[in-house]
Amino acid sequence: MKHWSRRKFLAALAGAAGLGGLSGRPNAAFAAANAAGQFTHRLRLPGASGLYAAVMAKDVRQLTVSELDFEVLPGILSPFRAYVADVGGRRLLNPTLLARPGDQIRLRMVNRLKQPTIIHWHGLTNDERNDGVGNYQVGPDGNFDYAFTVRDRAANYWYHPHPHDIAGEQAYKGLAGLLIVKDEDEERLSRALDLVPGVTDIPLVIQDRSFNFEGKLEYKLSREQMFMGFLGEEILVNLTVRPYFDAARRIYRFRILNGSNARSYRLAFAQGNRLLDYYLIGTDGGLLEQPHKLRETFIGAAQRLDVLLDLRAASGNEPVFLKSLAFDPMHNESVDEKTGKPPAAAAQGGADPHAAHAAPGAIADGTETPLLRINIKSSPEYKREIPPQLSRVPRPAAVAGEPRRLRLGHDGKGNWNINGWRFNMHETPVVVRRGARETWLLQNNRASMPHPIHIHGFQFRVIERQNSPAQIKALAGRQNGLLPQDLGLLDTVLVWPGESVRIALDFSHPFSGDQTYMFHCHNLEHEDTGMMVGYKVKA
Ligand code: C2O
Ligand code: CU
Repeated sequence: MKHWSRRKFLAALAGAAGLGGLSGRPNAAFAAANAAGQFTHRLRLPGASGLYAAVMAKDVRQLTVSELDFEVLPGILSPFRAYVADVGGRRLLNPTLLARPGDQIRLRMVNRLKQPTIIHWHGLTNDERNDGVGNYQVGPDGNFDYAFTVRDRAANYWYHPHPHDIAGEQAYKGLAGLLIVKDEDEERLSRALDLVPGVTDIPLVIQDRSFNFEGKLEYKLSREQMFMGFLGEEILVNLTVRPYFDAARRIYRFRILNGSNARSYRLAFAQGNRLLDYYLIGTDGGLLEQPHKLRETFIGAAQRLDVLLDLRAASGNEPVFLKSLAFDPMHNESVDEKTGKPPAAAAQGGADPHAAHAAPGAIADGTETPLLRINIKSSPEYKREIPPQLSRVPRPAAVAGEPRRLRLGHDGKGNWNINGWRFNMHETPVVVRRGARETWLLQNNRASMPHPIHIHGFQFRVIERQNSPAQIKALAGRQNGLLPQDLGLLDTVLVWPGESVRIALDFSHPFSGDQTYMFHCHNLEHEDTGMMVGYKVKA
C-alpha cells in the first residue's frame, strides 16, 4: 500500500487542480482551486461485502462493535470503529440493514470497544429497552440482546451509538449505518423509475471529518467546539473524500443522511452556476404523498432526505455537483436576547460571531462547499417519469389546548439546556400519558444557534413555524411557514435561532408498562454535554 503523508496527500489534491504546492490549510487551497479537478475518488457504494453492504436485518445475528483499521483517506490506514456483521461468509462493515414492516429483529450487540456503548435505532418506535440509550449501555466485552418488531413506515432510518457523554466521539470514529425499511409504495416507485439499489438508488451519508498530520481521523475538541459542536476540515460522502461517481442521463434516487456530528448543509445540485431542480420525495419517516420540486433545502444533523434527481435536465456533459450552498450559520450566541444585537463588548472586539466557531483548518459553518461530483456519461435512452402520487402520510393528530413549551437555550456559562434542564439519567421532567396527543412548541432563543432536535420513540408532524429567519422563510410555502420537508413524518427537526416550531405528537404505542425515552439536540457535542431530557410515557 502506498503510504502517503497527509501533507503529500493534500498537496496531491491541490496539485491535481493545478495549484502550485500547498500553502496554508487544505481548505484555502480547496476553495481557491477549480473544484472539478479535485473530485477524483470514486464514491464508495454498498457492494456485496464491506462498507454499507446490504443485508436483511432479520438475517443478522450479531453486530460486533469493533476497532479496526480503515482506509478513510486513500492509501492511509486510520484507526476506525465499525459495526461488523458476518453473514453467510460475507464480512460487512456498518451494514445497510434492510427490513419490511412486521419483521422480527433479533440480534446481539457485542462490545469490543474499550468503553461502554449501546446501539440506538434512530427513528424506530421501540420500547425503551430496545430503543437503545445510555441507561442500557454495556461495558467493554459486554453484550446486549435486541428483540423487536419493525412497526414503522417504510423509510430510511439509521443506527448509531448512544452511550452517555461519548456518543459524539464514537459516531465520529465510524459507528453509523442505515436501516432501510421497504414496503409496497417503495417498490412501486422503484419499478416505475427502474431503480436499482447501489446503482441508481444510492445512499449518501454526509459527514465532516478532520485528520491529523498522518492523515488519520482525529477527534479533538477545543473548548469552543465543545460548546458549538464539531466542525471538520473535509466533508466526506460515504466516507469518501472528494468523491465522484459516473451517472447515466436518467433519474437517480439519493437517500441522504446527514451523519455529521454538528454541521448543517444547504443542499443543491448545480451545473456550473445553474441550480438544477430536484424532487423531495421523502423525509425521516418515509415517502411524502407527492414529489415536491425544489432547488435547495437544509438538512440538519441526523435528518434524512430522500430525493430524485433527473439528469436528463442537465445540459451537455458538464459535471453536476451536489453541494452545500453558502448560508448564514446563525451562531448568535453572543447577541443580546432583547435587542437582537451583539453586545457592545463583542462588537468592540470586531470578532465576527460567525467566524468564532471555526477551529483552525475547519470549514467554517455555512461555507459554500462542493460535496460530490456527478459525471454524466452517454447512456441508453430512459423514458420513465416520476409518479405524481407516492404514498399516504399519517395526518397530524388534532389537539386542543396549550402546547407544551420547550425552550432551547444556554446558561451563559457554556452549557446548553432545554427549559433550563440538563440531562440527568434518573430524571424525567416531562411526563406524558400513553395514547395522549400533544403539541410541543420548540422555541429557540435568539441568542442561540440552530439545534436539530430529535425525539425518541415517536415520529411527529411539524404543524407550524413561527419567526423563522429570512433564509428559512424564503424556502417556506405560505401555509404556517412550513418547509417542504415539514410535509413528511420527522424524528428530528432543525430549529433556528429565534424560531418557534410547533409539532404534533401521538403517544400511542403497543408496549406494556411505563416507557422512558429522551429528546435531545442531535448536535452530538450538545447531546454529550447535556442538551438532552428524559421523558416518561405513563402506561
Ligand atoms: Cu440519533 Cu438520541 O439519537
Ligand atoms: Cu444543539
